[in-house]
Amino acid sequence: MESDGTSVQASSGSTGGKLNRRALLRLAGFGTGALLIGSCRHGTEPSRGAAGARVDASASPTGATREITLEAGLVPIDFGAQRLTSWGYNGTLPGPEIRLKQGDRLRATVRNRLPAETTIHWHGLPIPNSMDGVPNVTQPAIKAGEDFTYDFTVPVSGSYLYHSHAGLQLDRALYGALIVEPRQEPLSYDREFTLVIDDWLDGLPGTPEETMRQLVAQGDTMAGMGDMGAMGSMAAPPESPPDVVYPRYLINGRPAETPLELTVKQGERVRLRLINPSGATIYRIALAGHRLQVTHADGQPVEPVEVDVVRLGMGERYDVLVTMNRSGVWQLAAAAEGTSQLARAVVRYQGSVGAPPPPDAVPGELRGQLLLYPMLKAAPTLQAPPPTQPEQVFPVKLAGGGGQYVWTINDAVFASADPIAVPRGRHIRFTIQNMSMMPHPMHLHGHFFQLVNGTGRGPLKDTVVVEPMQSLSLDWVADNPGRWAFHCHNLYHQDAGMMRVVNVG
Ligand code: C2O
Ligand code: CU
Repeated sequence: MESDGTSVQASSGSTGGKLNRRALLRLAGFGTGALLIGSCRHGTEPSRGAAGARVDASASPTGATREITLEAGLVPIDFGAQRLTSWGYNGTLPGPEIRLKQGDRLRATVRNRLPAETTIHWHGLPIPNSMDGVPNVTQPAIKAGEDFTYDFTVPVSGSYLYHSHAGLQLDRALYGALIVEPRQEPLSYDREFTLVIDDWLDGLPGTPEETMRQLVAQGDTMAGMGDMGAMGSMAAPPESPPDVVYPRYLINGRPAETPLELTVKQGERVRLRLINPSGATIYRIALAGHRLQVTHADGQPVEPVEVDVVRLGMGERYDVLVTMNRSGVWQLAAAAEGTSQLARAVVRYQGSVGAPPPPDAVPGELRGQLLLYPMLKAAPTLQAPPPTQPEQVFPVKLAGGGGQYVWTINDAVFASADPIAVPRGRHIRFTIQNMSMMPHPMHLHGHFFQLVNGTGRGPLKDTVVVEPMQSLSLDWVADNPGRWAFHCHNLYHQDAGMMRVVNVG
């Protein structure tokens, strides 16, 4: 396998993790990921999780420690036509890809050289609360000039991301891919690429903070412009106008004029890890001339399903396999939903010498079959759902945008809301009702949830897009104690109040 990523050079030591195996089992939630490595069981019996879900014992630490340093500081950015300076990690856009193995211990030292406080959140990983990186919820923010070391054993495999969780910093370059390989890869493929798809406005010429002020000043004039469309479960979701039309859309930091070229060979199977760290953009992604076999949603395996288009909300990830059987030079487009803009990369078969498609070439496949949540089922290797019924149901009402740029959960903004108290060990259902005209990619920290999607075996995810005026349910086992953020991953909605603390205690 080859990887295009600029991986962090991680030193491997054999210090052994601080977490013992029992702690790791608890972190492994209801067995997610752990089951991919059945061939290296250690002969221990599976234990029983809180809601009766079986937890596989094979997700033990590897004993390897990966030490990395992420220096948060100024980053020079060159889009060709534009040069600017933003904030990022280790001088690059995006930050370096971190790649390790399930069970490795990660020791990541953040050196804060920004003129502001910061933290790093390890999006999607169910790790101990104190390492989760939410300022004033799980840790005091790292002050300018100070360092902080995150130290945890990586409990699951899959495609994740890390990003700043302070203020509007995610809408700068303070993000990167976090790839966790299983001990033994069950998929067979020849090559893989990580594609991090981002919307960009910092320095062109505004800032995220100015954008927030404008949104508040104009008071959500977009409200009511959404296309209601049909809300049947198998209907394509509407393309809502976004809060912000960004001046740039990037793949791995590259604008459409100077795209990344992915070189492949005829006959290969290629894995694409699609990751959306955007501030406020949902993408529809297709590769001209090819279909996409979806193998993972938010890092966790699903029953493979073949489509033309995947739709990626902020904070979501899909892994797809593509069979490279049509020589040529092809557009891989990520259309920014509700706009006519796109981010793109180019897939070039080795030996194909054609010119790349024009930057704005829209693959016909984008009008093809779209992956919808009801098409996703957790892989049979995952022991989900927990065999019990939810013990406690929490209604979650999402609202806002009625003329004011204020976004609420159960009628309260984060600053004035009490935490949602969830008893530890319970099987919880969140019934989310979106009473607004905007889609909200809702993200729960510290746990995977199972999307209730009518299949009886909905996918395990950590982020789900709730459409305008739609309701859906999430089931999860509250087995990771602590104060966990639950919020809309639209950065501007989050900042305008759409966040809560879920206190598992
Ligand atoms: Cu990726 Cu609380 O966020
Ligand atoms: Cu939102």
